[in-house]
Amino acid sequence: MSTTDQRLPVYLDCDTGIDDSLALAYLLAAPGVDLVGVGTVSGNTSASQAARNTLDLLALAGREGVPVAQGAEDWSTRAFDGGVPHIHGWNGVGGVELPRGAGEVAGESATDLLLRLSREYEGELRLVTVGPLTNIAIALEADPGLAQRVKDVTIMGGAALVPGNVSAVAEANVWNDPEAAGIVLEADWDITLVPLDVTLENTLDESDRARLLGSDVPLAVALGQMLDHYFDFYVDFYGSRSCALHDPLAAAIAVGGVVPTVAPAVAVEVDETEGPARGQTICDLRGQRLGPVDQPGARTRVVLGTDRPLGPHLIDLLTTAC
Ligand code: BDR
Ligand code: CA
Repeated sequence: MSTTDQRLPVYLDCDTGIDDSLALAYLLAAPGVDLVGVGTVSGNTSASQAARNTLDLLALAGREGVPVAQGAEDWSTRAFDGGVPHIHGWNGVGGVELPRGAGEVAGESATDLLLRLSREYEGELRLVTVGPLTNIAIALEADPGLAQRVKDVTIMGGAALVPGNVSAVAEANVWNDPEAAGIVLEADWDITLVPLDVTLENTLDESDRARLLGSDVPLAVALGQMLDHYFDFYVDFYGSRSCALHDPLAAAIAVGGVVPTVAPAVAVEVDETEGPARGQTICDLRGQRLGPVDQPGARTRVVLGTDRPLGPHLIDLLTTAC
């Protein structure tokens, strides 16, 4: 890292759907943050479409200089299944046709980009993952020293004390590649896990969307357009046109825009069996009744409460700073 640049270097790994786009926009707009690279993985859409979306979003923000590398098309033990167009649209960004950016996908894979940047920003790089953990597991297996070079990891994934959103117990990012999630959660590094327990409590509604659409920031307007599709999906869940802020909450927590208030460090295990619990994040939250207690040796903090709602802060940032 340059000695004069005190901004936090952040690497984002994502499956660029709609809330991933909000996370990307947040990291671009957040003061003191230097987004140094983005890797893509299949999830909401294919890794290649996610890379295209990311390049186009960066171009809208005038940030074509951020390298975007494509990662795994298939998950560790399963071929990509086509994504979730009913949630994120046919192209991952709600069917919105983004202006085609001039940027091209990097000539290296997402894992190679991450490994390279972890050396360039050794001890400083903050890793934020908001998709399946396939790329990160591949990188750890190729070079276990990654865990020592990265400062910390913030993961949107899992469900600790609430139901899953793909199966009764599994959250989508973990469900899509439980084997990769297991590798990442077992590695020797500091993790902040941002599960459905908190992401579902942070939402946007039509008044927020109106602010995005009414702004003079092109990226904010595009995000407002995308949210139309995302809100449709959430009507049955929330009973109104709104959406959960899964990925931007992880981004905000990673860089200190939202601060966890209840986040005990505990053992977390991923169910990798083929049974009904596949993809479950089993968080050992015993002994927490009287308040958060860290388990000796545990390096995964499970976020169960935060200091403020993300929505107003996110909209303020996106409509003024992009
Ligand atoms: C997660 O799954 C994806 O659909 C979202 O982008 C988010 O990362 C929520 O379970
Ligand atoms: Ca995502």
